[in-house]
Amino acid sequence: MPLISDVEVAPLYRPPAPEPPARRLGLFKLLSTLQRNPLECWSADVFEQPIARVKLPLLDAVLVHDPAAIRRVLVDNAANYRKDPIQRRILSVGLADGLLSVEDERWEVQRRTLAPLFARRTVAALTQAMLTAADALTQRWNALAGRRVLDIAAEMTLVTLNVLARTIFSDGLSSDLDEFRRAMNAYFGSIGRIGALDLLGAPRAIPRPGGRTLRRTMSYFEGVIDEIIATRRRRLDQMPQAEAPADLLTLLLRALDPSTGRPMSLAEVRSNILTFLSAGHETTANTLAWSLFLLSQAPDWARRVREEADRELAAPVEGLADRLVVTRAVVEEALRLYPPIAALSRAAEQGDSLGAEQIKPGALIVIAPYVLHRHRALWQQPDRFDPTRFLPEKRVAIARYTYLPFGAGPRTCIGSSFALQEATLILAVLVQRFDMRLAPGAKVWPQQKITLRPAHGLPMVITPR
Ligand code: HEM
Repeated sequence: MPLISDVEVAPLYRPPAPEPPARRLGLFKLLSTLQRNPLECWSADVFEQPIARVKLPLLDAVLVHDPAAIRRVLVDNAANYRKDPIQRRILSVGLADGLLSVEDERWEVQRRTLAPLFARRTVAALTQAMLTAADALTQRWNALAGRRVLDIAAEMTLVTLNVLARTIFSDGLSSDLDEFRRAMNAYFGSIGRIGALDLLGAPRAIPRPGGRTLRRTMSYFEGVIDEIIATRRRRLDQMPQAEAPADLLTLLLRALDPSTGRPMSLAEVRSNILTFLSAGHETTANTLAWSLFLLSQAPDWARRVREEADRELAAPVEGLADRLVVTRAVVEEALRLYPPIAALSRAAEQGDSLGAEQIKPGALIVIAPYVLHRHRALWQQPDRFDPTRFLPEKRVAIARYTYLPFGAGPRTCIGSSFALQEATLILAVLVQRFDMRLAPGAKVWPQQKITLRPAHGLPMVITPR
């Protein structure tokens, strides 16, 4: 009988990721790499140290990857660490009145008002809408007879936008979904870069590249969304409450601040719709694209997901996402290796201390889930694909502030249950219905461009089962 140590254990797959440079980059190299792909800036020491400092001419940046210090920044002393000007500038274009961007009392009121829209029960009720969007995608793929190499990254943005369209406006977008998606891509293309002007602290009055495209795209969105809101308001006024469309738009228009009983203004409703669309679309699409890529490289896991999907998708929809435990473990491992929001940042208002580090007022705090999730001191075999970590019996052992794909504390992602449920359901449906292999010669590389996505798309050969 073989001893356990004699049994061959298949080595875990190591997915593509930049090799951290042994030394910190100099200023010019740092600026150009930040423009191209910020992931390539993280030097080896950052993956080993709990806290590291970067001195830039106008910035004192502190890279925080110590769980206790992260907890202090994001939770215990969160009031002292606010969204910093770079992040606010990048994220607030057109979203200025939405939850992602507002601060202080306006944020508190919006968060309270919007919380019921993303409560577990509300999200569970959206299961069917999510499955319908997955079905629409499988029909599209089945219809593409003979053209089986598809850019899965682009396909995933289509399905996640479709999910949002179905869950926010169940009676559909008045404009064409493809046109909307193109505008969404133009929007991300314009805001997607951390420019040297931002890093050097140039005032907002100095025009940034892509500003005009962005303004044009924003006015397109506003037109489409205002029309939808006006139509829905008229319908809601005319119909009995019980017959109102069961979607996020109805909930948004009816949402009242529990403390004051006040509804949201038109600007807030519009800004929050845009916020949900932009915060929930690419992030979830990337999660799905990376999950499918990882499964294409790890056939054992693809088989396990398929077995689970064959079994559970045949059973009643009630509680479906909760039963897809293997599928969900793959999604969570994809979120660990390729967190769509690869870095969070905050600006310190007052001085503080994080462990032995003194933080000066105005310091830029960077917490990078990408680094944290691959930190040498916090994870075993951090660069390897191993969904076992997220199976229920092991999941409980993952310490809270070592895994932050959705952030933490008061500003944690409000859509995390929505996104996890959506990604799990769609992944199960796709793996059940198709064999998906990476196209020969495809080069897959992670790039951080607002979200962390495959740099050259994800061409895969799709064969219906
Ligand atoms: C896998 C998908 C997603 C990921 C990885 C993700 C990640 C994040 C992260 C890290 C934050 C916190 C940012 C910070 O602290 O600076 C955040 C905030 C937020 N997310 Fe998500 N998100 C996802 C999906 C969604 C979805 C589906 C929605 C809505 C439909 C959404 C809406 C929001 C909003 C509104 C905020 C701001 C919350 C606040 O400031 O109170 N996200 N998200």
